Amino acid sequence: MGKRRKLLITAGPTHEPIDAVRYVANRSSGRLGTSLASAAHDAGWDVTLLLGPVTLPAPAGVHIAPFESTADLATLLEEHFPHCDVLIMAAAVADYRPRSVDAGKLPRTGDSLTIDMEATPDLVAACAAHKREHQRLIGFALEEPASLPARARAKLQRKGLDAIIANPLATMGSDDIEAVLLTADGRQIRPPASHGAALDKPAFARWLIRWIDAEL
Ligand code: CTP
Repeated sequence: MGKRRKLLITAGPTHEPIDAVRYVANRSSGRLGTSLASAAHDAGWDVTLLLGPVTLPAPAGVHIAPFESTADLATLLEEHFPHCDVLIMAAAVADYRPRSVDAGKLPRTGDSLTIDMEATPDLVAACAAHKREHQRLIGFALEEPASLPARARAKLQRKGLDAIIANPLATMGSDDIEAVLLTADGRQIRPPASHGAALDKPAFARWLIRWIDAEL
């Protein structure tokens, strides 16, 4: 038997600190990423999960490294990405974060508060720029349904990914996922529907892990 392939998965939201007690976040539950980690573990992969601030129990049998902010996740990816064969970037990374973080608690001083935000670095694109030949990268794209395939394909190319899972906005926080998989070589693949309905996230995760095993 060959060596077990190493899978690195990121999951969950980021919390971008404003001050010592407040943060900017998003609605990601981490359910899809943790389902992917469990499915890959069950399929015999050596799995490391970089897990954001979620309320879900961590899946059994996988190595877990927790993160809070985009900066924490960037540090963990620098450490772990060079050692993986496949990266699945399911984390909902913030696009903007407060430019400066107050060390204490910002006082209430008037009628309004303006927070200066800066763009975060594109973490998966940075990994793709440093990837070695055997490494494969899969991203996610959360899109408005009308522009979904076109925007997802543009994202795949811009970020240098091997494949991208495009799903409509309603996927975030939901039990189900209605996704389409786009590949760098131009394929568009729909997972099998279960009785005509969208797949639940564990079923989708098992399908995607089998696809990666066979095709990437
Ligand atoms: N991503 C990342 N670093 C960021 C933002 C996103 O690595 N700073 C990754 C996500 O983990 C996901 C993919 O890029 O795998 C697409 O994320 P998405 O938010 O849909 O794309 P954006 O690049 O943020 O584009 P837009 O917000 O314009 O849709």
